[in-house]
Amino acid sequence: MNIVILGPGAIGSLWACHLSRAGHSVSLWSRQHNNSIYLQQDHNPAVQFTCNSKEKLASADVLLVTVKAPIVEPTLEQIAPSLAQETILVLMHNGMGTAEAINTLLPNNPLVIGTTTHGAFRPKPNQVLHTGNGYTEFGGFNEGGKRCDFLQTVFEHALPKVTWHSNILSALWHKLAINCAINPLTAINQVKNGHLSSPNYQKTITSLTAEISQVLNAEGIDTSSESLLSKVNQVIEATSENYSSMHQDIVHQRPSEIDFITGYLLQRAKAHNISVPTNEQLFQHIKQIEQNHD
Ligand code: PAF
Repeated sequence: MNIVILGPGAIGSLWACHLSRAGHSVSLWSRQHNNSIYLQQDHNPAVQFTCNSKEKLASADVLLVTVKAPIVEPTLEQIAPSLAQETILVLMHNGMGTAEAINTLLPNNPLVIGTTTHGAFRPKPNQVLHTGNGYTEFGGFNEGGKRCDFLQTVFEHALPKVTWHSNILSALWHKLAINCAINPLTAINQVKNGHLSSPNYQKTITSLTAEISQVLNAEGIDTSSESLLSKVNQVIEATSENYSSMHQDIVHQRPSEIDFITGYLLQRAKAHNISVPTNEQLFQHIKQIEQNHD
C-alpha cells in the first residue's frame, strides 16, 4: 500500500520502519525534514524515506497521522487540498476529541482511530528505538472507516499485536482514563511514572479514578472505580521507568495534550452534570504551568 506518515516523531518513525520492512511504500510528511531522510530503527539497516512529496500525499491509500492531538486539526487543514477522498485517515495519538473535527473537515474520507501502547524513543532525528513492546487497537469512526477492518491485517503484519474494535471509543476511553490519572500528576510533580505507586499519590489517584469511572459510565462504558484503579496501577508498574509524555512536554516547555486528555474528560463530565473536582484541579494546575512558559 502507499502509506504516508504525518508527523514522524517516535511512534510515527517506529511505524514507518515496520511498515516499510513489511513491504509497503512508505513516505513521511514532516516540518522537520527536507526531501528525504534515512531512519534507523534499533539494529535494523537504515531505510531512506521520501519526505513532503505532494505526489505521494495525493496517491496515499493510508495517511497515518501521528502528530500530537493539539496539532492534528491545523496540520490536516493545511494538507487537505492535496488529499484524495479515498485516502483512509488513521489518527493515532494520546487523548480524544480530534476525530469529530477531522470528520467535519474531511467528511468523505474513511476515518479510523487508533491507540497504541508501544514505547518508542527518538534519541536523534535519524534514529528510533523500540523501547517497549505493546499492542495497538483500531476501529472506524465514520461509516467509511468502519469498513476498513482489513487494516488490522496490514498493521498486524508490520507490528503485532493489532486488534480491530467495532467500538473503538471504549478502548480510547480506557486509554484516556489512564492518561488522566498518570500524566498530569507526573508532570506537576516532575516524577517518573513509577513514583505514583508511593502511598503519597494513591489517595489522589483513587479520587481521580472514582471521578473518571462516573464519566465513563455516563458515556455508556462499562467499568468501575476499582477496576480503573487497578488498571492504572498496573500501567504505573509496567511503565515505572518512563517519563510520561506530559511530563516531557512540560519539562521542555512545549504545549501539552491536557486539553485533549483531562480537558476532554471535563467537557464530557459537564455534559453529564458530573462533578470531577480532583481532575479539574490538576487541569488548572497544568494550565497555570503552561501559562508561565516563555
Ligand atoms: O502518555 C504516556 O506517556 C503514556 O500513554 C503512558 C501510558 C502514561 C505511559 O507513560
